[in-house]
Amino acid sequence: MLVQPAVGLLLATYVSALPSRQKPFDFKKLKALVAFGDSYTYVQGLLGHTNYTYIGDEFNISFTPQELFSNRIVQNQTGTAEGGPNWVEYLTNCGVEPGFHDPRKCKIELWDFAFAGADISTTLTPLHHNFTVSLERQIEQFVRYGNPALSPHITKKHTLVALWIGINDINDLAKQQPKNTSFAPLYENLQIQQFSLVQKIYDLGYRQFLFMNLPPLNRNPAPAVNASTVATFNSILASHATAFQSSHPDTRILQYDANSVLNDVLDDYAQYGYKNVTSFCPGYNQPDIAINPSKYGCTPLDTYFWYNSGHMTSKTHEVLAGFLGKWLGVKSQ
Ligand SMILES: *[C@@H]1O[C@H](CO)[C@@H](O)[C@H](O)[C@H]1NC(C)=O
Ligand SMILES: *[C@@H]1O[C@H](CO)[C@@H](O)[C@H](O)[C@H]1NC(C)=O
Ligand SMILES: *[C@@H]1O[C@H](CO)[C@@H](O)[C@H](O)[C@H]1NC(C)=O
Ligand SMILES: *[C@@H]1O[C@H](CO)[C@@H](O)[C@H](O)[C@H]1NC(C)=O
Ligand SMILES: *[C@@H]1O[C@H](CO)[C@@H](O)[C@H](O)[C@H]1NC(C)=O
Ligand SMILES: *[C@@H]1O[C@H](CO)[C@@H](O)[C@H](O)[C@H]1NC(C)=O
Ligand SMILES: *[C@@H]1O[C@H](CO)[C@@H](O)[C@H](O)[C@H]1NC(C)=O
Repeated sequence: MLVQPAVGLLLATYVSALPSRQKPFDFKKLKALVAFGDSYTYVQGLLGHTNYTYIGDEFNISFTPQELFSNRIVQNQTGTAEGGPNWVEYLTNCGVEPGFHDPRKCKIELWDFAFAGADISTTLTPLHHNFTVSLERQIEQFVRYGNPALSPHITKKHTLVALWIGINDINDLAKQQPKNTSFAPLYENLQIQQFSLVQKIYDLGYRQFLFMNLPPLNRNPAPAVNASTVATFNSILASHATAFQSSHPDTRILQYDANSVLNDVLDDYAQYGYKNVTSFCPGYNQPDIAINPSKYGCTPLDTYFWYNSGHMTSKTHEVLAGFLGKWLGVKSQ
């Protein structure tokens, strides 16, 4: 089980030494971002489950093309799990302003099938709610409804598929399993599942993928995991992503080290205007928090790295998306 990623790593090193064989990617020409994941990535849609999705839920993952295109991204205080625009919205500049947004009117269209509270599947961890759409079911929804609707409309060559998943998996496993559990085999199992789902998107003709690794969950206000556990998860993710690149040379696999970038931001927090990177404002979701943070004993929310015990503020998503956008530019070739 461990042999394949190690071989993949060697092959990837070989491939990257021959840039002419690397599949081109051009961020400037990007026309659409298709996103999967959890609450870090989900955006509210008018046809979504309130506080959880852009469209549908586990009781009904279906939609028609007309419904998908009539749907709108909602941007307001509850339009994401971050109190404001999140990384996919900042990266695409789609849905950032308050109000309703038609993704087709954005220069980079954002098609978001992430579900707040999602794990990869129900094999190792249960659904958070009976309406939760796991990554496995997000991909099924995309295969059955999303791709058929989008295929005539978007150019796959200029579409990036982004996956950011594992935050709930690592936390749920840490809470469920005894402390002496050997987690690495469980993370291996999760990545085998994730990449069999990625294969399904590949089979539809998508060739450009972005993988975000786990943020520094060990530094959040109520950590369930430590730095070495997060590092183990991320290295297993990286070896699977690298192996997928090797076994699918016609793809461009982009692996973004969100963990290092966010750790650096935490270390140099004052430079980004943060005042508080260890805790969160208790009144974070109050309707008047933006105009009256002092009522809750807080400075403005954008002086906090963390929005609540498990999520980063919209400001942190903006900082992250800024770095990511520059990196995608550098990776364009
Ligand atoms: C959505 O989240 C907001 C903020 O936490 C909360 O006030 C509201 O009650 C939630 N709505 C539903 C329908 O659960
Ligand atoms: C599922 O959701 C779609 C889109 O909102 C709707 O058109 C359809 O009627 C729903 N199906 C059921 C069985 O509720
Ligand atoms: C955000 O917009 C949605 C859709 O109109 C609405 O249901 C929700 O209550 C709004 N949230 C806030 C905080 O106004
Ligand atoms: C989903 O869970 C809720 C709350 O636990 C419950 O009331 C509801 O009956 C469940 N729905 C279905 C279809 O199982
Ligand atoms: C981190 O957590 C893992 C899993 O619970 C544990 O085995 C390990 O000893 C911890 N490491 C440190 C440095 O605390
Ligand atoms: C973990 O600890 C429990 C008791 O705390 C013990 O019964 C179990 O055998 C241990 N498991 C491993 C894999 O060491
Ligand atoms: C961070 O914010 C929390 C909540 O407002 C507060 O209790 C804590 O004292 C703050 N820490 C720092 C270093 O300002």
